[in-house]
Amino acid sequence: MLQQIKSYLKFLFHSKNEHGVHSPFVFDLVTKCFYDNTKYPEYEALKSYRKSLLENKNTIEVTDFGAGSRVFKSNTREISKIAQTAGITPKNAELLFRIVRYFQPKSVLEIGTSLGLATSALSLGNSNAKIITLEGCPNTQKQAQVQLQSPSFGTNSNFKNINFINTKFEDYLKNSKLQTPNSQLIYFDGNHSKKATLDYFELLLPTISNDSVWIFDDIHWSSDMEEAWEIIKKHSKVSVTIDTFQWGIVFFRIEQEKEHFIINPNKTISSHLFERIRF
Ligand SMILES: C[S@@+](CC[C@H](N)C(=O)[O-])C[C@H]1O[C@@H](n2cnc3c(N)ncnc32)[C@H](O)[C@@H]1O
Repeated sequence: MLQQIKSYLKFLFHSKNEHGVHSPFVFDLVTKCFYDNTKYPEYEALKSYRKSLLENKNTIEVTDFGAGSRVFKSNTREISKIAQTAGITPKNAELLFRIVRYFQPKSVLEIGTSLGLATSALSLGNSNAKIITLEGCPNTQKQAQVQLQSPSFGTNSNFKNINFINTKFEDYLKNSKLQTPNSQLIYFDGNHSKKATLDYFELLLPTISNDSVWIFDDIHWSSDMEEAWEIIKKHSKVSVTIDTFQWGIVFFRIEQEKEHFIINPNKTISSHLFERIRF
């Protein structure tokens, strides 16, 4: 926790807004997407899906993967509690929606569905995109699929573009060439350990194109994740990166000079400290 606070203060000290950005590609992304204040009607759908999870007091038996939970002691977990702790925050869900809306990727891969809070944002961002989302825990995956595609939400045609896959990430990614077309946007939000993050990065590298957008969640979650982020930034295929504190966004555009940006996606900072840091 102390490490996260230190990292956040460092982030605030180094972060820039659009005025410090000379790359037109990044300037446009910041001004037209990060700082886009439009109240999109899709935000209501995001809120309503989150509300349905937060009101769900049923419990499920989860299979624990990844770096382990800092919150739960038992594997019998209340849906509402999982939604409160494991999912993307409301502000970041809106930002993820805007990023997908801005880049309009044709194919999206999410590594780590949980209850589908981020999946709903990915889906609404481009209803024409094929969304593949991976989850290892069968009960969590089933809950996400049933609840997101239930009649109350399933009437929203956007959520029909989601393909839920119950798999261990490693198993899927090792065979991904055989299973799916390359994904243009990838949201890495599963196993938040250095080794797993770098393994998934390497396994997916052969699929990159000039238009790839990769978003790594929780790059400052631990010193391990910060090390993984530094290694990713240095990789020869990576050109531009943006550190938004919660996310590390990676581009492989060959026309761009290698450059690393630290950008606060919110113009006001104070109220975001506690929303951004998952203790
Ligand atoms: C942080 S949660 C995903 C949150 C989700 N993207 C959201 O914003 O709502 C990570 C999920 O990844 C799953 N997971 C972690 N490691 C995994 C692995 N190696 N294989 C399959 N699933 C895994 C966990 O079960 C958990 O549900």
